[in-house]
Amino acid sequence: MLTLNELTKHYGSFIALDHLSLTIGDGELHGFVGPNGAGKTTTMRILSTLLSPTSGSATLCGVDVATKPKEIRMLMGYMPDFFGVYDRLKASEYLDFYARCYGFSYRDRMHMIDNLLELVHLSDKKDSYVDLLSRGMKQRLCLARALIHDPKLLILDEPASGMDPRARAEMKTILRTLKDLGKSVLISSHIMPELAEMCDSLTIIDHGKLVFTGSVDELSAHMSGNSPITVQLIDGADSEIIQKATSLLKEFPGVTGIGQDDPKSLSVIFEGSQEAQNELLRSLSSQVPIIDFHRAPLNLEKVFMEVTQDE
Ligand SMILES: Nc1ncnc2c1ncn2[C@@H]1O[C@H](COP(=O)(O)OP(=O)(O)O)[C@@H](O)[C@H]1O
Ligand SMILES: [Mg+2]
Repeated sequence: MLTLNELTKHYGSFIALDHLSLTIGDGELHGFVGPNGAGKTTTMRILSTLLSPTSGSATLCGVDVATKPKEIRMLMGYMPDFFGVYDRLKASEYLDFYARCYGFSYRDRMHMIDNLLELVHLSDKKDSYVDLLSRGMKQRLCLARALIHDPKLLILDEPASGMDPRARAEMKTILRTLKDLGKSVLISSHIMPELAEMCDSLTIIDHGKLVFTGSVDELSAHMSGNSPITVQLIDGADSEIIQKATSLLKEFPGVTGIGQDDPKSLSVIFEGSQEAQNELLRSLSSQVPIIDFHRAPLNLEKVFMEVTQDE
């Protein structure tokens, strides 16, 4: 659906985007993550035909972004990171204005506006003035605007930044609906966990360069080094019990490190098959009173900090 091939952008002598290549499939919700200044907006502006690449290319449904801007604009909808809304326009009038720009008839427009407002959960704001809507509502209205011409790909630049948790949850629901409608979405953020939980796949860039692209599961695998297993002991476990657990663990093949998080829990670095892990659990639980044994989930914020460098 969308392919970037060695896409590069220079601003004077500064390299904002450096041979970026990635692919996004049909109906994929793809997160685009990177710290501020990584080159996300630059990439999205090139894909939206607002900026020319210095070299490299990008195609959407086989159409070249740099040489066929008109066709591309019909295929994608873009929601910029900063957008203006006009004063003294109602939500419905705002969408009507843009629908007219696309040349839709009056009948089509009336029908379409109701559908779009419903899709972005703004039906009850149809007659509200745009400049009086909350930030989250304005963002949803802008998303409706980007959907007017029924594009195949949506490009959303940091739509969740500055949103409160409720507005973010609402945005997530809307994105799922768009996916169900068969749309592909490229959505950027500088906050990795926020995107990872709602996307099928991710691309991480830093200083204009690709760091990772693939599914969230592949990212976990890519970040080799298993996370530690936390072993929680029963309340009131004394030092003797801790001692016993520690010496049992030490002797177990595959255990390469043991730490103590707090008086009742141990953190165990263990590498081995699932069968071996099962054996470890059985042997531990038959000899010391444990109440919990689990591998901590991948800490996405930590991964992000590790893969992107400090300024
Ligand atoms: N028009 C421009 N002229 C010069 N430098 C720019 C311009 N636009 C962006 N940059 C620089 O390019 C880099 C990438 O910016 P941007 O694509 O906006 O990153 P992001 O959206 O990931 O925060 C930044 O260092 C930014 O300062
Ligand atoms: Mg940006």
